[in-house]
Amino acid sequence: MSQTVTSVIGGAAITEGRTVASTNPARLDDVVAEVVMADAATFARAAATAKAAQPPWADVPAPVRGRAIAHIGRAVEENAEALARLVTREIGKPYAESLGEVREIIDTCDFFLGEGRRLYGQTVPSEMPDKQLFTFRNPVGAIAVITAGNFPVAVPSWYIVPALLTGNTIVWKPAEYSPAVSNAFHELFVRGGGLPDGVFNLVHADGEQTFAGLQSALDAGDIDKVGFTGSSAVGREIGALTGRHLQTACLELGGKNPLVVTPSADLDLAVEGALFSGFGTAGQRCTSLGTVIVHESLHDEFVARFTKAVESAAVGDPFEDVLMGPLLDRKFATRYEAFLGWVQPHHAVYGATGRIDRGNARAGFVGEAEAGLFYHPVVVDGVRPGDAIFDEETFGPIVGIATYRTFAEAIELANAPGYGLSSAVYTTEPDEVFAFRRGISAGMLSVNNSTSGAEAHLPFGGNGKSGNGARQSGMWVLDQFTRWQAMNWDYSGRLQKAQMDVVELSPELGFRLPEQ
Ligand code: UN1
Repeated sequence: MSQTVTSVIGGAAITEGRTVASTNPARLDDVVAEVVMADAATFARAAATAKAAQPPWADVPAPVRGRAIAHIGRAVEENAEALARLVTREIGKPYAESLGEVREIIDTCDFFLGEGRRLYGQTVPSEMPDKQLFTFRNPVGAIAVITAGNFPVAVPSWYIVPALLTGNTIVWKPAEYSPAVSNAFHELFVRGGGLPDGVFNLVHADGEQTFAGLQSALDAGDIDKVGFTGSSAVGREIGALTGRHLQTACLELGGKNPLVVTPSADLDLAVEGALFSGFGTAGQRCTSLGTVIVHESLHDEFVARFTKAVESAAVGDPFEDVLMGPLLDRKFATRYEAFLGWVQPHHAVYGATGRIDRGNARAGFVGEAEAGLFYHPVVVDGVRPGDAIFDEETFGPIVGIATYRTFAEAIELANAPGYGLSSAVYTTEPDEVFAFRRGISAGMLSVNNSTSGAEAHLPFGGNGKSGNGARQSGMWVLDQFTRWQAMNWDYSGRLQKAQMDVVELSPELGFRLPEQ
């Protein structure tokens, strides 16, 4: 069963435009939706609509907005399985992971529903009598949220839930290859939360039209903040564009996430962590494992256990109990094939590579490989700085292995690619844990746990090529969607000049206790 989905601006469906089919990557003949694509002018119109709807939304008392978030959370919970099934069907994420992803929306709503009754400001003493100082959090305005499709519902909720709660309005441009999921998410939010028209607008558009639409919306003063999750290359463009408008975008970009295995590590635990973070979501999380950095004394044993685990992992139909389903979309499959071309003669490749089909079969494949975009999971040993496979994000089921001698070298290798999103260290030595914490450039680190699987109420975000230091989730994201306003109120009835009319006490600076 296929459906037609459209952009929704101010509560109205935009039915004009070319249509594009969204297909199930595990079963390419299954058309999940036809989506009507919007152009740049439509994006700009959505921004103007969001801008106009923002002051009345900010006037809705914050506890009432918090209730809307509470209702959205319950609506998502009531529809969790239907939404998760749609995620699995449209982007091929294994069903257990899709349920986890939906859970992340609910967790985010649960965190923020009470924030409507807090959103604390401060009362601060003044340096002068009969004067009081205060701080308030103000909404930023109309927010453009542009998200990737590997987490087509959890990551959008990280932006949209706190932005709505704090009194902002939204134009959301989701990934082009997850329109049915985006449509379901939008309906759950608007209907489940009872949001007024114009508060949450949805625009389906390609990257080029979105960028052009964003440019004109920024020129018109209709967008006050951009939240973007996607590639480092596009993040750079968005950062530059918003910077010219004196704005700081909230950027969550790529990763080349290292996992260090030290001599004291529980090797089986490290293998399990590497397997899940390397090949869960077919390696298409921004937190997916990039390179295992293993101590030279353990290298052979680690490689033996890891390659065995990869060989016996279940790959196939994402509605079955598998570790890995298909790639998200044709675009990603094509790009991933190019990454495979980065393998060099000094690398050792374990197992088959490329697309799984009759001539390039995988033992134990679950389902029908040729129906979808299924690829062999690949382990590449002997990667080092200067190799593209080591230096660049390789979104897909490929994990590199490098070796180290000293722990300082391990940290240097972990930081070398210049990303800085997630990282992991497997050790039982406290000094290594804290040396890693101090030395790693990543915004997030796991100790004896995989690089992926951040909980929804800790700060999420990266440094270097992974982002501009913005953090999502938990209380930290409030600073993305609110601006501090400082108010002073002088009720003395006269002009008291700060720094000048301040009473001085008279300290006896030379006072000393008598010698005893
Ligand atoms: C992403 O890939 O953009 O930490 C987000 C994790 C998930 C979120 C990943 N909770 O792996």
